Amino acid sequence: MRHLMSPLDFSVEELDQLLDLANDIEKHPDKYAHACNGKKLATLFYEPSTRTRLSFEAAMMNLGGNIFGFSSAASSSAAKGESVSDTIRMISCYADICAMRHPKEGAPMVASAVSSIPVINAGDGGHQHPTQTLTDLLTIRSLKGRLNHLVIGLCGDLKFGRTVHSLVRALARYENVTFVFISPEELKIPSYIKEDVLESRHIPYREVERIEDVMPELDILYMTRVQRERFFNEEDYVRLKDFYILNNKKMKLAKEDMIVMHPLPRVNEISVEVDKDPRAAYFRQVQYGVYVRMALILTLLEVKVC
Ligand code: CP
Repeated sequence: MRHLMSPLDFSVEELDQLLDLANDIEKHPDKYAHACNGKKLATLFYEPSTRTRLSFEAAMMNLGGNIFGFSSAASSSAAKGESVSDTIRMISCYADICAMRHPKEGAPMVASAVSSIPVINAGDGGHQHPTQTLTDLLTIRSLKGRLNHLVIGLCGDLKFGRTVHSLVRALARYENVTFVFISPEELKIPSYIKEDVLESRHIPYREVERIEDVMPELDILYMTRVQRERFFNEEDYVRLKDFYILNNKKMKLAKEDMIVMHPLPRVNEISVEVDKDPRAAYFRQVQYGVYVRMALILTLLEVKVC
């Protein structure tokens, strides 16, 4: 039995197979419509979510399976003090697979250690968000045609943004990917990502503050919101929240085939006027998230569709 805690749990070859499966699901959804008949997915969300929880639920429904779960710690027995370990032992009796989001780093890992069903990390604190990374990889491969030979700019809250941490780890495994980290001083990418993931493998990266300075060289601009829920004080959040606002004027500096991605939710960091630009890929990214979660459920449940 396999769990998914980090995008690196899959080898590059396994990831290719997963993304191929997601592309096949996109092309032939009917073929998969009953693949999970009689199977149940539990969504255990101790932290707010729109896309991840609902796209997991849509994914299981598209496969003919059933879903149940909770959408906040307050509506579960966690509010009475039940541990994650006890909860997952229970859920293992009810479901075939589960997706867990938790504000504490490592909580899904704790659950996986005692679970008798596959556990998927649906985001743990500021640590990792592997299914967002699978979504991002599928989006990049589908829209750019490759996962190598890319210059990717990651912009915004690179300190707390778990989607950024997971994506850097995943893309660092591909050839000739250059990272440009665009952030204010206070929200810089953590040192352990620079040292352990990039410098140890001689992968090129730069850190800049002004988005305009690097826009013309990017193949992908990955925007992120400033994560209010991870700040210790409101004053710092208010000072930094509008540091970057992508608008049509800045988009004029970009390549014609650059794509703009964002894990969403968006707050102010992308002006709505950019939504009409054909390079805005963030809503297509959401659709890819359903296909890749369908592929992931099939893979972890070892369901084969001919
Ligand atoms: N991208 C993402 O994780 O969105 P939600 O927080 O709405 O799930």
